Amino acid sequence: MATAPFDLVLRNARVATASDVFDADIAVSGGRIVQLGQGLGPGRREIDAAGRVVTPGGVDAHCHLDQPMAPPVRMADDFDTGTRSAACGGTTTVIPFAAQEKGGSLRAAVADYHRRAEGRAHVDYAFHLIVSDPTPAVLQQELPALIQEGYTSFKVYMTYDDLKLDDGQILDVLAVARQHGAMAMIHAENADCIEWLSQRLEAAGRTAPRFHAHARPMLVEREATHRAIALAELVDVPVLIVHVSGREAVEQIRWARAHGLNVLAETCPQYLFLTADDLGHDDSYQGARCICSPPPRDRANQDVIWGGLHDGLFSVFSSDHAPFCFDGAEGKHPGGEEAPFRHIPNGIPGLETRMPLLYSEGVLGGRITLQRFVELTATHPARAYGLHPRKGAIAIGSDADLVVWQEGERVIRNADLHHAVDYTPYEGHVLRAWPALTLASGEVVWDGTQFHPRPGRGRFLPCGTPSLLPRRSTLP
Ligand code: URP
Ligand code: ZN
Ligand code: ZN
Repeated sequence: MATAPFDLVLRNARVATASDVFDADIAVSGGRIVQLGQGLGPGRREIDAAGRVVTPGGVDAHCHLDQPMAPPVRMADDFDTGTRSAACGGTTTVIPFAAQEKGGSLRAAVADYHRRAEGRAHVDYAFHLIVSDPTPAVLQQELPALIQEGYTSFKVYMTYDDLKLDDGQILDVLAVARQHGAMAMIHAENADCIEWLSQRLEAAGRTAPRFHAHARPMLVEREATHRAIALAELVDVPVLIVHVSGREAVEQIRWARAHGLNVLAETCPQYLFLTADDLGHDDSYQGARCICSPPPRDRANQDVIWGGLHDGLFSVFSSDHAPFCFDGAEGKHPGGEEAPFRHIPNGIPGLETRMPLLYSEGVLGGRITLQRFVELTATHPARAYGLHPRKGAIAIGSDADLVVWQEGERVIRNADLHHAVDYTPYEGHVLRAWPALTLASGEVVWDGTQFHPRPGRGRFLPCGTPSLLPRRSTLP
């Protein structure tokens, strides 16, 4: 009896998962992986991967898209351009943030964010929440109800005036995470230290972009990371420290792990490929492009971050894509002017370059294994935020989100990228690999030269219970 052909067969793949690398064909029907094996039956469409590495589509678990900002500042990427850029860089799931305004409702922020995303995304998306005003109504009603509905992770900030919580408020939010099995993410920098340093720098006329790094030295991140860990220990709940920049925060996290605490950690490309020198010299404004928080450190700290990617300290590798144009009045020149460092919007673009940079310098540079690459860019983020095994896996029943990798030199040029930002901090960087094909739920969304748009292809994903705890055994 003849069997019906598959929708698609990806043949001769060198399949890489978080645990194994093996040769197989991948059969797809109804947008999901339905068979893995050698010599699979025919597909209505067939693509020969010709022995190339095929990984799960990336899960970028920390990016900012169309997040409301105080005018005149505005994010350059919305769900259309942001997910377009993600797909062309091998990322097939994004998790940006529905941010509560102080004095506003969290539920209203989520409703507004759905309106921004609806019908625009080219790849699937879920939402984290940002809790900036943990009122009794938020803690007792809105947050528990939203967790039940699939918003199972939230970020709290220890810095930024419009977002920061004090320690008591953070404890309250962590207690909700514990009670309802949600994942708390913490931006760990000490707000008062930053304010104190910024005022002194400003009073001394030191306002150029490079002084951003002087206002946020590693000790402000170290202190806040230690405090975040202590607050989580008090509540007895896992936490994930986001965008870890260097040695001092890493030491705190290693200490926590050594003491049996469930502290997860995320890092980002900017802490591997940029340094504080990229914030510029003297009074040059060019470095505003690379202002992000925590700031990039130095080469020795880059090595520490590589060490944590290699040995399992970090579970998640995200872009922290925060898309602000350099020119114009809405981004790095707020109101059209060169601004003192403390008024320059924080964040850099990186959705499209996240996976190729780590594949090139991590895997092909011999610093991490292919399996670890998959774990960091797809499997662990999917687990941490309750999307696994639908996402982050090449397994029967998983969504057919796949990336075929092409090795070979390619220079990063902003003109070739697909975001709406007018620069990339990685201009001129030579990559050793790039996605030759990205499939999202079995559809070709990027073929190595052309983007295949279908706004609305991307669906909202309610998240389940986070299912990732640190691997204590492998750590000192
Ligand atoms: O500088 C950064 N990281 N901007 C984005 C917002 C955040 O804190 O993640
Ligand atoms: Zn942050
Ligand atoms: Zn961020």
